[in-house]
Amino acid sequence: MDSSAEVLSVDEVYKLLIGLIVPRPIAWVTSLSLKGVVNLAPFSAFTYLSTEPPLIGISVMRRGDGLKDTAQNIADRGDFVVNIADETLVRPVHLSAAEYPHDVSEAELLGLGLVPSVDVAAPRLACVPAALECGFEQVIAFGDRGAQLIVGRVRRFHVRDELLDGGKVMTERLRPLCRIAGPKYAGLGEVHTLEPVRQDGSHSYST
Ligand SMILES: Cc1cc2nc3c(=O)[nH]c(=O)nc-3n(C[C@H](O)[C@H](O)[C@H](O)COP(=O)(O)O)c2cc1C
Repeated sequence: MDSSAEVLSVDEVYKLLIGLIVPRPIAWVTSLSLKGVVNLAPFSAFTYLSTEPPLIGISVMRRGDGLKDTAQNIADRGDFVVNIADETLVRPVHLSAAEYPHDVSEAELLGLGLVPSVDVAAPRLACVPAALECGFEQVIAFGDRGAQLIVGRVRRFHVRDELLDGGKVMTERLRPLCRIAGPKYAGLGEVHTLEPVRQDGSHSYST
């Protein structure tokens, strides 16, 4: 296949992007409504944007002409938590993407326990191995439909002690859940460890 993006339909473009930009990490976001309902939803258009300060970004599409509950809550309350799910949590992550009314808590429906956050109002999930408490930093609208890139500043890191070694996250212990094309998920797979790249460009192995 070799095609100009301009002649492809919205659906075709979507399938290519979500099929080729893989695997994606998942921000499993808890946010609080003005009425105090804890919303939970997964977002795989998720990455870090900066380390100084620690900024992360999540792209939240629009729902019709309005905002998804997560985007609305973050706009209303100014904070949220990115929960990091491991492979064992694939089912609740998937089920939490269902569209419930604004006053329904996916966390409660799925029977997921919550823990109060320290620096933000939105609580975090008890079942996850790591969570990032985030304050709202800015939002940037992209594209014809105004997809919202929500930028959050990490205010507190929660990581289970057994996942860390000298401050580094041991990914093989974290076993993060990833999103791939369609309603499919993946685990970590095989891990390849190479020597750090030498700054003078030389290397001791053949390609
Ligand atoms: C694994 C997974 C990843 C998703 N990633 C995104 C995403 O990056 N952006 C988005 O707008 N919706 C994404 N969705 C869909 C939202 O989770 C879904 O629209 C959800 O109902 C939003 O919930 P809310 O209205 O409570 O915020 C994803 C769904 C799943 C299952």
